[in-house]
Amino acid sequence: MAKDKKLIIGNWKMNLSVHDASLYLHTLSERVKSHRSVEVVIAPTTLALQTLSLQVNLRQFKLSAQNFYWRDSGAYTGEVSATQLRGIVSYGLVGHSERRYVFHDTDKDIRYKVQAAIRNGMRPVLCIGETAGERAMGETFDVLHDQLLTGLANVTSDELDQVVIAYEPVWAIGTGDNALPGDVTQAVTAIRRQLKHLYGAKVADDVQVLYGGSVTASSAADYLAIEGVDGLLVGGASLKADEFSTIIEKAFESTKKKA
Ligand code: PGA
Repeated sequence: MAKDKKLIIGNWKMNLSVHDASLYLHTLSERVKSHRSVEVVIAPTTLALQTLSLQVNLRQFKLSAQNFYWRDSGAYTGEVSATQLRGIVSYGLVGHSERRYVFHDTDKDIRYKVQAAIRNGMRPVLCIGETAGERAMGETFDVLHDQLLTGLANVTSDELDQVVIAYEPVWAIGTGDNALPGDVTQAVTAIRRQLKHLYGAKVADDVQVLYGGSVTASSAADYLAIEGVDGLLVGGASLKADEFSTIIEKAFESTKKKA
């Protein structure tokens, strides 16, 4: 996807029934203006994906899985594979902190999920970020380095343009305790430096890097103004139509400023 486009992802997490998700998508479709310079992605509960895929106008919104299993098929009770999501979603979140810390997704799971997404034509959104404890110990950059290295271990430079990286400090997710733009600048700079080191400047510069963690309509513009931030991963605020549509407008405004 063109690097001059902003990417805004709304992660609805384990909220809304299928019926309510469908109603809410309808509300959003009336509120949110489509802009060529902003790609808007919705990540509803897995259960609602198929219904929403029949309803959604793909020129307005793309869909994302919040999670999936990395094997394509087989005896894996309770799981949904990237292969099964083919044709339904365009994106898939991988390594979200709630997956890492609540469900204990391992580095190996995350690496394989990144590959499974690419193999099945969906763009993985690899989420990386330090916990409060790691931050207090001054380990932020080591954590980002390790999570990036392991998450991308099997991604070739030809495949890298499929991948989106989301910097999501764990302590900022769902807490209202959002990161200072200065901290985000440093983290994103470190991520880009490492991507360059791994893949070379030409390919690395094109990777979309997002910020996520307690983003609201009033903080969105500050993050979008940071050099190297190409969009936002929004949780709580994506469940409020006014708030989410304002964030999308802020993204549009930020592309106008750059033009
Ligand atoms: P939040 O969630 O915006 O509610 O902090 C962000 C996320 O989980 O990606």
